Amino acid sequence: MTSIVRNQWYVAAYGREIGREVFGRTICGESILFWRREDGSVTAMSDRCVHRRFPLSEKPSHLVGDTVVCGYHGFTYDADGKCVAVPGQTRVPRTARLKSYPVVEQDSFVWVFIGDDDRSDSVPVPRAPWLDAEGYTTVSGMEPLAARASLLVDNLMDLSHETYLHGGYIGTPEVANTPITTEVDEDAQVVYVSRHMDDADCPPFYATSTGIQGRIVRWQDIEFHPPCLYLLHSRVAPVGVLPHEDGSDPDGFHVEVVYAITPETEHSTHDFWAVARDFALEDEGVSDFLRESNRTVVLQDVVALDALERVLAGEPDGYQELSINIDTGGLAARRIIAAQAAAGAEQVPESPAVLSTR
Ligand code: FES
Ligand SMILES: [Fe+2]
Repeated sequence: MTSIVRNQWYVAAYGREIGREVFGRTICGESILFWRREDGSVTAMSDRCVHRRFPLSEKPSHLVGDTVVCGYHGFTYDADGKCVAVPGQTRVPRTARLKSYPVVEQDSFVWVFIGDDDRSDSVPVPRAPWLDAEGYTTVSGMEPLAARASLLVDNLMDLSHETYLHGGYIGTPEVANTPITTEVDEDAQVVYVSRHMDDADCPPFYATSTGIQGRIVRWQDIEFHPPCLYLLHSRVAPVGVLPHEDGSDPDGFHVEVVYAITPETEHSTHDFWAVARDFALEDEGVSDFLRESNRTVVLQDVVALDALERVLAGEPDGYQELSINIDTGGLAARRIIAAQAAAGAEQVPESPAVLSTR
């Protein structure tokens, strides 16, 4: 059975990746073409020409105004995916239409709806408002992962691995040594995992970016919206410096770490990462440092998860893992995602429709 949750919005790209060039990306096993109309809005449709299946994201396919012209024999499609011209005849076959996808641009991301289009209105687009909000500066990127999305979910839900896999970057002994609390909001389908360290080493990631010298208060508050949006609310401050009673926190440094976990296929994943901070907003040096550091950390995870995927792919089903307290958040996430996948699977067509006669 598929592990991919359908009837769900997924991050397909950053807005900056899509312009007046054809752009293709596989999302949840579906090859999708993205481009911007002349008015700047993003459109998404199947990346396979209905004629002989040539990818419309491959050169010499190209845009002409608000149409895309197939680079093989010239079938031409409008922004809704409807074929408006074919070579050698004036009559365009009625069924010549690409599947189009609901798409929303929000919080610097381009989101695409994978599932039954008529359900897209009833499923909210997840939010990560810091990424283009005033008062924050964001660095971001995307790394391809040759591993299934569930391995990245596991990885992000249990940050004790920072101590071992990311020592010298974001890991210190206190991360692995401090117990977590886990809460699940079943109605809202959100998993919360918190780890509050009151007196911890300051790893280079925060020492260099904040300028704090000495030990810190370090709070990690995870908010995971299964299946695909992970938010880490991170607060650091010198030891003893806490938020005020009214909730204001002028002396704390706040970093919102966002991961959008988008399956490419059953066994590969687009790992979108972003780091938004509320300090040193204009400091390019801090931006460069955080971008480089976080990318290095993400690549450490990529190497580990790619290795895990090779292990899992070579093993028979049914291996019994051993889980401990640190895994409670990851296990809750797995349970919710499995239920979401089972619910969505009931509506999966036998093969994704490319042609539609609507
Ligand atoms: S494959 Fe696109 S026009 Fe022939
Ligand atoms: Fe990691």
